[in-house]
Amino acid sequence: MARVFVTGSTAGIGREIARQLLEAGHEVVGHARSPERADQVRAVLPGLADVVVGDLSSLTQTRAVAEAAVATGPFDAVVHNAGVGGGSPEKMITADGLERIHQINTVAPYLLTALMPRPRRLVFTTSGLQANGYAEPDEIEWPWDGMQAYADSKLQDLMIALAVARLWPDVVANAVDPGWIRTRLGGPNATDDVAAGADTQVWLATSDDPDALVSGRFLKRRTELEPNPQALDVELQDRLLARLAEETGTPLPR
Ligand SMILES: NC(=O)c1ccc[n+]([C@@H]2O[C@H](COP(=O)([O-])OP(=O)(O)OC[C@H]3O[C@@H](n4cnc5c(N)ncnc54)[C@H](OP(=O)(O)O)[C@@H]3O)[C@@H](O)[C@H]2O)c1
Repeated sequence: MARVFVTGSTAGIGREIARQLLEAGHEVVGHARSPERADQVRAVLPGLADVVVGDLSSLTQTRAVAEAAVATGPFDAVVHNAGVGGGSPEKMITADGLERIHQINTVAPYLLTALMPRPRRLVFTTSGLQANGYAEPDEIEWPWDGMQAYADSKLQDLMIALAVARLWPDVVANAVDPGWIRTRLGGPNATDDVAAGADTQVWLATSDDPDALVSGRFLKRRTELEPNPQALDVELQDRLLARLAEETGTPLPR
């Protein structure tokens, strides 16, 4: 049995990851943005060992999530799943002065990773749209485009996974593209259901299959794919980690 922490487990792919893990007999700590959302997921998934609460668009609350999760006990695996899409018509800046999609999708998984003790396995959630992303979007002048911000955030999630895999050889860290999944984020016309969207993350978090224990990959449907070449650029990875350390005040422990 593994002990797994899943962020964004109140809906969509994250809730299905938690459900599949529970069904397989693992111990799961969930995460919700608010006490109300926590109560809702507890009602749907009563087997959850605990549900940690915090809004990932706040650095203070993200720090509290890390602290509360760690207080429940050590994890074998952490699945960084929580995320928002690019549908927002306007650029939103959070109370921390960060662009909202960037903060929820990229800064939060980085900060949780930097603050929590290293689990044996880390799973980051990217997207096929990472192919359209820019590692350093602030270097480019263009009008606000939510889908571009989303693609950039998902490329950066992939870069964090590859950087962590390189810097922490004792951890198996990978990034997963769940595919186009029918959820609130994916929309009703998406091609696949949540079961397919959750399978690879569950496998990476818990399986003893030697294929699940290889670090530093970009995967979809348990198969390694070629990432956006920017993701493989070690200098870009290091500059992203430096930017995230500056934005959060928390460097990734080396
Ligand atoms: N669906 C797809 O086609 C697709 C494709 C590629 C990648 N992905 C990625 O897969 C992951 C899950 O997406 P999904 O489709 O399952 O989306 P979803 O159904 O909208 O679920 C997103 C989850 O993240 C949580 N969340 C969002 N913002 C949060 C915040 N500020 N603080 C705390 N929790 C927050 C949500 O909580 P609430 O329920 O309270 O909002 C929910 O639990 C995301 O990282 C997404 O980028 C999805």
